[in-house]
Amino acid sequence: MLRKIGQCLILALLIVLIADQVQGKILAKCDAVKELDKAKVPRSMISNWICLMQSESKMNTSLITGPKTASSYSYGIFQINSLKYCSRGHSGGLCNKRCEDFANDDIQDDIQCAVKIMNVDGLKAWSGWMKDCKNKPLPSYADCKLQSLVNKLEEPRESV
Ligand SMILES: *[C@@H]1O[C@H](CO)[C@@H](O)[C@H](O)[C@H]1NC(C)=O
Repeated sequence: MLRKIGQCLILALLIVLIADQVQGKILAKCDAVKELDKAKVPRSMISNWICLMQSESKMNTSLITGPKTASSYSYGIFQINSLKYCSRGHSGGLCNKRCEDFANDDIQDDIQCAVKIMNVDGLKAWSGWMKDCKNKPLPSYADCKLQSLVNKLEEPRESV
């Protein structure tokens, strides 16, 4: 009896884990800020990126939408588009990446590609940014504890 229950629990856990992998996740704002900070995105740009992600994907790391212009699709939290920036099924585009790689939970590669897109085409490449962020009040992240900020604040105390 106990063994049956144990087996059921393990099975349930596996199902939850697999479902989680497939569904991706909705990143909390402060987690997204942390990822941007980790990728060394300048502080001055963080609010713009958060606004862009909220507008484009509602922070869904696994969102895939399309077909759009010329039967292209858009992938992940930044909705990176297959027309120009990545290729479906194999490496390609401006970022030389598989689009599918932008629809998993690891958004560091997404950030690298998004920064590249911004450097080439500007934030105006994202219709969501144009609509919801350009010349609009941007989200604050003052309520997020950034590791690099925390370190800076704590250093002097440690040396006392
Ligand atoms: C995120 O997007 C995926 C793919 O479009 C969808 O299946 C999933 O339900 C979305 N997650 C949430 C929480 O909306």
